[in-house]
Amino acid sequence: MHLTETISTDRRSILKGFAAAAVTALAAPAMAAEGLPAQPTGAAAAIAADKAYWTAVKGLYAVTPDVVNLENGFWGIMAEPVRREFIRQSDMVNYQNSYYARQRAGADFEAVRAKVAQAVGAAPEEIALTRGATEALQLLIGGYNKLKPGDSVLYADLDYDSMQYAMNALRARRGVDVVKFEVPEPATRQSVLDAYARALEANPKTRLLLLTHVSHRTGLVMPVAEIARMAKARGIDTILDAAHSWGQIDFRVGELEVDFVGFNLHKWIGAPVGVGFLYIRKDRLADIDRDMGDEDFAESDIRSRVHTGTVNFATVLTVPAAVALHQQIGAAAKQARLRYLRDYWVSRVRGFKDIEILTPDEPGLYGALTSFRLAGKTGKADNDATVAKLRDGYKILTVRRAGVAKGQCIRVTPALYTEEADLDRLVEALAIITGTKTG
Ligand SMILES: Cc1ncc(COP(=O)(O)O)c(C=O)c1O
Repeated sequence: MHLTETISTDRRSILKGFAAAAVTALAAPAMAAEGLPAQPTGAAAAIAADKAYWTAVKGLYAVTPDVVNLENGFWGIMAEPVRREFIRQSDMVNYQNSYYARQRAGADFEAVRAKVAQAVGAAPEEIALTRGATEALQLLIGGYNKLKPGDSVLYADLDYDSMQYAMNALRARRGVDVVKFEVPEPATRQSVLDAYARALEANPKTRLLLLTHVSHRTGLVMPVAEIARMAKARGIDTILDAAHSWGQIDFRVGELEVDFVGFNLHKWIGAPVGVGFLYIRKDRLADIDRDMGDEDFAESDIRSRVHTGTVNFATVLTVPAAVALHQQIGAAAKQARLRYLRDYWVSRVRGFKDIEILTPDEPGLYGALTSFRLAGKTGKADNDATVAKLRDGYKILTVRRAGVAKGQCIRVTPALYTEEADLDRLVEALAIITGTKTG
């Protein structure tokens, strides 16, 4: 379970194995993580707080002791069984080269696609693998072909920067008006729904809405189905940015009631960096253009909507191991644990002097990510200084987030390997920084 277990130590046996077998990339069963006890049973709250179980989960991760990493929103560290599978697949691909890629990669990639589709609740024909959510969403936003000059497209301040850019680019590309509005802060379920209703009402020419399931700025979890339904009733399509949600939040794609969605697999599913997928509901494929006129696949095949070129084979081949671990721990248990960890620190600092928590406690409106702001500190320099103080003074890693209408903030993102003691350290540091007396 240590990173010192290098490729070279078991290189000979790996090579022997590859030479003996014909190419068997996905022949090894997507393993169940050894050493992980059966999950405790009972209510979600009890499972989420079960020390023995989550200590065993933490044991699956090799993580630097140099810092308490509460910046797990960038991408997800691979659990050790997944990391080992990635190395095995990297070795195999490097050893076999085109002998593997020309004969077997196509079928293996199809197996990966089927596995991901089944896990997210889609048909395989409704998803296509990408290198991440960015690629998926750019292809959806850029490829959406129902816009006409004079139409409007809509997005909010909390949406991801590069997706905002992609929406802005529609101005020149499709001749549309681009409208941006603000999500209220502090938010409630009703105030968010009202803000979207008002924005749609005020912009009757809107034909396309960009919506983000989990905001990377504040962690706010949007009531997606309600908003998408509201849009659909006005003849407006929604493209959903689910980069942060699947694996952190427990859902199946049909529950979102959105026809176009971009996903990541390298955040909360824990696959190697460089893989995601797009979802297009079966009967909506014609509304997204082929990627740069792709001719490798039929126009009726969703794979013609993504033309990446040569990809990192091992990254894709490792996805089943990541999905298997996600399913072994369970989407509901992961969601409950991450919310428990978020509640653990938020409930302790909410009363602190001069701390604003940007994400509401309302059930369903948050997951692992939550941002805070020190009162009045809305600029870059102040927030950078606090992030630096936490990192250099207390060995706690967080990240500054910009783009929230009311000002910049600091995002705190625990992961499955985070323990209560890690969060106690954050709480103590914030007590000192804010001058709050505790105990
Ligand atoms: C909300 C959101 N959308 C899109 C992305 C882009 O994901 P990636 O860079 O993995 O493609 C991110 C990444 O952090 C994100 O948080």
